[in-house]
Amino acid sequence: MTPPEPLHFLITAGPTREPIDPVRFISNRSSGKMGYAIAEAAARAGHTVDLVSGPVTIAAPSQPGIRLVAVESTRQMYEAVAERLGAADVAIMAAAVADYRPVSVSPQKIKKSKQQDWVLHLEKTEDILGSAREPLGFGGLLVGFAAETENVEAHARDKLVRKRCDVIVANDVSQPGIGFDSDTNEICLYHADGSAEALPRGAKSALARDLVRIIEGLARDRMRVPAS
Ligand code: CTP
Repeated sequence: MTPPEPLHFLITAGPTREPIDPVRFISNRSSGKMGYAIAEAAARAGHTVDLVSGPVTIAAPSQPGIRLVAVESTRQMYEAVAERLGAADVAIMAAAVADYRPVSVSPQKIKKSKQQDWVLHLEKTEDILGSAREPLGFGGLLVGFAAETENVEAHARDKLVRKRCDVIVANDVSQPGIGFDSDTNEICLYHADGSAEALPRGAKSALARDLVRIIEGLARDRMRVPAS
């Protein structure tokens, strides 16, 4: 039997940064470890990967088959994704994207004033995952992440519908020892058919392997032409 054709994955990872001035920015807590582990697992399973990454301190993936695209801001991440989404069978948005950016960026360092407070005027950034179906026209398997501190299932299911995903991978970042900088995670997959699938606590690399196996199965089911 001939092995199935490899799939093409587009994965976002890490935080994005929104500059305030040349020395300050707004960002999110994210090490990029989960997104990078998924990219490594997908490449190890024989797939090709575009890994669109915000600034991280972890090493670039060593696995062949991964193309790393380094970006900083949400707008840059959006543009890199928009350029590459058409070629992807699977899109996994694991980045911790900054939801707001300063309306204007000062070209010079803003000096401390005599005032005790400083009000920053922010505007919404592009919702990359929320734009994948419309206006970007992505027809492949769409996977989002939800890092929550409360009501994990309700928030995950809301994101699943609102962002028109096939799967939301949720984790409870209020629990000690998992998420953010940790090498360990505990995730639950919420599927568009209403089912849920918990993957027990484990190394991010092991979870990524299981996740890629599940996602690959879903993507192949979706691509399968129904028998006439
Ligand atoms: N996401 C994205 N672009 C954004 C914000 C989020 O692509 N501007 C993606 C994330 O990569 C993740 C999913 O959307 O896959 C959920 O991110 P999250 O920040 O939890 O959701 P929000 O839409 O920001 O909703 P809320 O602030 O209500 O949690």
